[in-house]
Amino acid sequence: MQIEQIYTGSPLRNFSYLVHGGDGFAYVIDPFYSQQIVDALARSQLQLRAIINTHEHWDHTCGNAELRRHTGCEIWAHAGARHAIADIDRVLAQDDVIAFTPQQALKVLDTPGHTFAHVCLLAVEDGRPTAVFCGDTLFNAGVGNCRNGGDAETLARTIRDKFCSLPDDVRIYPGHEYWENNLRFTLSIEPHNQRAQELLMQVVQGELPCGTMALEREVNTFMRLETEDRVAAVAEFLRLRALRDKW
Ligand SMILES: [Fe+2]
Repeated sequence: MQIEQIYTGSPLRNFSYLVHGGDGFAYVIDPFYSQQIVDALARSQLQLRAIINTHEHWDHTCGNAELRRHTGCEIWAHAGARHAIADIDRVLAQDDVIAFTPQQALKVLDTPGHTFAHVCLLAVEDGRPTAVFCGDTLFNAGVGNCRNGGDAETLARTIRDKFCSLPDDVRIYPGHEYWENNLRFTLSIEPHNQRAQELLMQVVQGELPCGTMALEREVNTFMRLETEDRVAAVAEFLRLRALRDKW
């Protein structure tokens, strides 16, 4: 599976993603500037099949209308996003499969928390998960906020049930580039986290690592809850989320 991570340069530091399986057809996840996507499609000689919006917030959908006009592509999103996203052609639900080839597919994960109409896309190659496009659910070294239509307890369950069991080598492709702030927050909670200190130095120098689940387990304080007890873990997650909101 070919994945092009497109840094939009938007004020909110959004990422868009172009994903394709080598058959000339591509999908774009969360288009921000439509022209950026049109240029990327032309560079790789790809035809756009569909836009996939991870959720309904404007900064994940603002490229939709122009891109659809320009390419005639479809728009796919969570059923709960119908009120906010125009012209949805296909609704996406847990375990839906978007197949590129018999060996390559995106599997849909229903991931409420940041909003209640949020999906993530798990890339599966030769039967193994290899990457996850996580919108505003999981970030590099952090998680999404729940202030605009979300719920922190629901997000805690989504992170635990849909992400914590993913293998170490699964790559993380989030909706925003928030490395530096998130690492600084981790270090405010865990001042002696050496891996987070090292990464922060790297990031400040402009070197952005490609996140993986292994790295998240080392530097994402929301994934390092020091308890196996489910109720206590949710309480600790809520405490961290509330701290991060004020931080
Ligand atoms: Fe969002």
